[in-house]
Amino acid sequence: MEFSTLTTASLHTLKTPALAVGVFQDGVLSEAADALDQAASGALRAIVKAEFDAAPGSCLPVHAPAGIAASRVILLGLGAQDHYKAAVHARAQAALAAYCARAGVAGTVSTLAAIACPDSSMTDRARAAARAAAAAAYRYDATFSKPRPAPKLRTFALHVGRGQAAQAREGLRQGGAIGAGMNLARTLGDLPPNVCTPTYLGKTARDLARQFKTLKAEVLDQRKIEALKMGSFLSVARGSAEPPAFIVLRHTPSARPAGKHAPVVLVGKGITFDSGGISIKPGPAMDEMKFDMCGAASVLGTMRAIAELDLPHEVIGIVPSCENLPSGTANKPGDIVTSMSGQTIEILNTDAEGRLILCDALTYAERFKPAAVIDIATLTGACVIALGHVNSGLFSQDEDLAQALLAAGREALDPAWRMPLEDAYQDQLKSNFADMANIGGRPAGSVTAACFLSRFAGKYPWAHLDIAGTAWNEGKDKGATGRPVPLLVQYLLDRAGSR
Ligand code: BES
Ligand code: MN
Ligand code: ZN
Repeated sequence: MEFSTLTTASLHTLKTPALAVGVFQDGVLSEAADALDQAASGALRAIVKAEFDAAPGSCLPVHAPAGIAASRVILLGLGAQDHYKAAVHARAQAALAAYCARAGVAGTVSTLAAIACPDSSMTDRARAAARAAAAAAYRYDATFSKPRPAPKLRTFALHVGRGQAAQAREGLRQGGAIGAGMNLARTLGDLPPNVCTPTYLGKTARDLARQFKTLKAEVLDQRKIEALKMGSFLSVARGSAEPPAFIVLRHTPSARPAGKHAPVVLVGKGITFDSGGISIKPGPAMDEMKFDMCGAASVLGTMRAIAELDLPHEVIGIVPSCENLPSGTANKPGDIVTSMSGQTIEILNTDAEGRLILCDALTYAERFKPAAVIDIATLTGACVIALGHVNSGLFSQDEDLAQALLAAGREALDPAWRMPLEDAYQDQLKSNFADMANIGGRPAGSVTAACFLSRFAGKYPWAHLDIAGTAWNEGKDKGATGRPVPLLVQYLLDRAGSR
């Protein structure tokens, strides 16, 4: 998609298939809507009065209004003017993008970003607008016999004041990259598990490194993983005929910032199918466990976005990837494995496999002497029970890192909620036969999972995001969401200070 800004003075002379303006509740027109209404001799105000309540997210196209050059004016509802905020703006931009996709519109000009709102800058609003447009252009069509009709939206322009064009352009650039990163994450999540294998994820990392010159990919195979003594990760991989992959994707900015900067490391859970293993899951909805690599997908999507933006900081993405299947060589309840850290683990439930592959990746991350490590994983059903599909679960004992991630989530409208991670929960992981068990019983299941990981993340500031409830939608709209790519990119942008 092509993003641009416009600063034309007379909106009514603008030729575009769809010109979008904001309308508040009780018939209050935004500045742009008012200007168009004057050019159309009051026609817009009359339509608003007759049939538009301007509820947030609502949308009413007005075709070929007299006195206006655009083929249609799209009225977008912004709710009550005194409650207007960034989230309502983003929702309206999403409604516009959805309308364009539905109606087969090829290009649109939106005037919404020019409306000030208390909790956002022009850059923030432009970022949200571009992200919405890019996300609406997503269509999964890899495995249909006939190509599905794709959205036609090709050009997206923001109409802004002259003094704000540079800020708007920077926001569009960021939002476009975030949208493309989300769409990559969604595609990987949506692909079936017989296509999106560990090998496929490795190939995706290599393809990214070919496409972006700041990225370098390394994919370690079974032999190299053995040489690293990742006994915990390998124990999960051993149940499947599909070979595991340990992916390291490194972004080195083209211009190094002054001074020395330790990298941020992102670690994504890459279980390309989770049957539960010998502790097998029930049949209904088991297909959804193809999404168990959405942490990995969010790492690859985030790496794509920051490479496109050439973020001025080093970031390293790590993905341990394998399948979790039952077989004659699979983990059994009672098995004890030795992790790369040397700590031994009694596997009491083979379905708690995510932590078994992540722990070795967290140990591997030590070699980068990282400023921070964030792991992202569809780790526990318990997190879905606790937080539903709204917030990702955030676990961290590092106050600064936790606050930075929470703020990034709020800013990016991709929220996370802080969960506890105190030593008192560690007792639940006690094993009679090994340094720890891989499960802590039903109480606080998402917390004990995080406690398990914390035992491998002591050498650097660390945070864990449980995205089991936010990475995909169930039911009729089943599919990957691309979360938490927006949160992660926002965190990295904030950190690099390029806002
Ligand atoms: N991938 C699942 C977590 C999951 C379950 C995500 C349901 C979304 C929906 C993970 O590997 C898993 O199976 N966790 C177990 C842990 C338990 C055995 C301690 C769970 O949550 O049931
Ligand atoms: Mn599992
Ligand atoms: Zn899993």
